[in-house]
Amino acid sequence: MRKPLIAGNWKMNGSKELIETFGRAFAEIDLPSPVDVVIHPPFPYLDAARQAFVKTPVGLGAQTLNPLHSGARTGEVSGQMLNEFGVDYVLVGHSERRQLYHESDEQVHERVMAALEAGIKPILCVGETLEERDAGRSEEVVLRQVGYVMARLDSAQRQQMTIAYEPVWAIGTGRTASPAQAQQMMAAIRRYQSGFDRELADALRLLYGGSMNASNAKELLAQQDIDGGLIGGASLKVDDFIAICQSAG
Ligand code: G3P
Repeated sequence: MRKPLIAGNWKMNGSKELIETFGRAFAEIDLPSPVDVVIHPPFPYLDAARQAFVKTPVGLGAQTLNPLHSGARTGEVSGQMLNEFGVDYVLVGHSERRQLYHESDEQVHERVMAALEAGIKPILCVGETLEERDAGRSEEVVLRQVGYVMARLDSAQRQQMTIAYEPVWAIGTGRTASPAQAQQMMAAIRRYQSGFDRELADALRLLYGGSMNASNAKELLAQQDIDGGLIGGASLKVDDFIAICQSAG
């Protein structure tokens, strides 16, 4: 049985006040069944979030990390630094990082390794563009992104991984993948993974991301191979995000 994970990626949004609102709201609610919840605020809010979430079930996530431990990398943050702030999860390979900052599969793999070395669980983000989908290449692209990283990890490292399938055309567009489209890709990822290790493939958590909200979450999360969500816009509204967490039960 895979425990659902609901992750909120705030991207470059939010405020100290929003962190406090989330801390208060989550301290007052009971989540219906076992579900892991994590918020990925921008770096400057990590410490405030850590304190605000102490009495809640909400874990702490970061949005990226640099592969190096330290050094002349102005503006960057290392895994060790995130670890010092109690970060549990880190996003790696988000499509905005791949597109806007030109992160290659190789660089994504380096970041995954840095996260694992720092004791932080990577959430590997993968997904095809609209052009790739229209050309019938969705599965090829996604399995390449997954395979590049997973094939370079040992079995203990693979067990620390979560994979988030986020079709680029569904991110921030209001155009969600249909539950059937999302399920089809998740099943392909799990099938691919079982080629390496059947047991791991059964245990691997797969999240869907891309315009998931309080209205469509239940149906998406009900799909056999969808074990949670990576939520952008709707994770900035506390009531919507709580409703999504409750749909995971
Ligand atoms: O990482 C979450 C994401 O990219 C999805 O964003 O706003 O479509 O839920 P959104």
